[in-house]
Amino acid sequence: MMNAHSAFGGWAFFLHLARVLCCIGYGNSCRFVMFVPYQYNSIMRHISIIGSGTMGNGIAHTFAQFGFDVSLVDINPDALSKALLTIADNLDRQIKKGTITDSDKLHTLGRIATYSSVADGVKAADFVVEAATENEAVKLGLFAELDRLCPAHTILASNTSSISITKIASATSRPDKVIGMHFMNPVPVMKLVEVIKGYATSVDTITTIIALSKQLDKVPVESNDYPGFVANRILMPMINEAIYALYEGVADAEAIDTVMKLGMAHPMGPLQLADFIGLDVCLSILRVLHSGFGNPKYAPCPLLVNMVAAGKLGRKSGQGFYRY
Ligand SMILES: NC(=O)c1ccc[n+]([C@@H]2O[C@H](COP(=O)([O-])OP(=O)(O)OC[C@H]3O[C@@H](n4cnc5c(N)ncnc54)[C@H](O)[C@@H]3O)[C@@H](O)[C@H]2O)c1
Repeated sequence: MMNAHSAFGGWAFFLHLARVLCCIGYGNSCRFVMFVPYQYNSIMRHISIIGSGTMGNGIAHTFAQFGFDVSLVDINPDALSKALLTIADNLDRQIKKGTITDSDKLHTLGRIATYSSVADGVKAADFVVEAATENEAVKLGLFAELDRLCPAHTILASNTSSISITKIASATSRPDKVIGMHFMNPVPVMKLVEVIKGYATSVDTITTIIALSKQLDKVPVESNDYPGFVANRILMPMINEAIYALYEGVADAEAIDTVMKLGMAHPMGPLQLADFIGLDVCLSILRVLHSGFGNPKYAPCPLLVNMVAAGKLGRKSGQGFYRY
């Protein structure tokens, strides 16, 4: 016999119930839209973040600052210690700016627990954001593991910059609950969250993630699932072209960045931005665009390929187009 859980798909059942109650209570579709995400998210308390690098620590910081319990997971224990130091430094910066208090810092840090085992870090998760290395094989392996280890109701999001959400979802038995939640760097500061709908992502999952993004004081923007989505499809060709300009000797790095800052009012030049993103991450994204569209215009500049091979990954390694 089919039970309520299988008939409505776990959380979808509660969502359905909330809708029914709400319609009875108010009989007004406008209030109904406001009410459902709140109900749905109020039970989403425990967030697990996989990967504690550049993005993972910022995502953990943001969720914890907004009152969620966070499990931060990384297979590299050194990355976890470094992440906690980075989060503490960034909270100090917010205190200096007057946007949070000393007590907010203590509460935020107190909500973050760290784990070097994925199994331990996700067993109580209502929601997972994967922010591990930008590599398709790593993400497919992780999502198969998350699908096995997480409770049935858990929504699984990837912070991938470019890899197909539909493909990532195919590694799980819950493709309707897999979605892209693409935060921008630095996460506590940047307002945008690109929300990427995989082929099988359900409307309930999208509604929940849009509401959750707003709870974090972010602005969610929906995108369909094509290589690079919107942000990196536009940003990466510009960064690659700036690297080509340097490679061909058109100008030096500072001149290229200055032209884009003073001439185009960009807050940061494309080469400095590439250093902040991570040159390995930029290279991976360009490769996804290149193979995904089969168009030579996305081919990564040989200088970028060489710098990554030489371990010059930008700010995180101490050297990229600039020294840190
Ligand atoms: N760097 C950016 O500006 C930026 C912006 C938006 C999105 N992203 C995306 O966010 C993701 C993470 O990027 P990043 O820049 O933070 O990378 P990063 O290299 O700084 O950190 C990745 C972390 O993932 C960990 N990791 C790798 N495999 C793991 C596994 N199986 N389980 C647990 N941890 C694992 C690594 O130890 C490392 O600490 C990528 O998908 C990237 O495309 C990056």
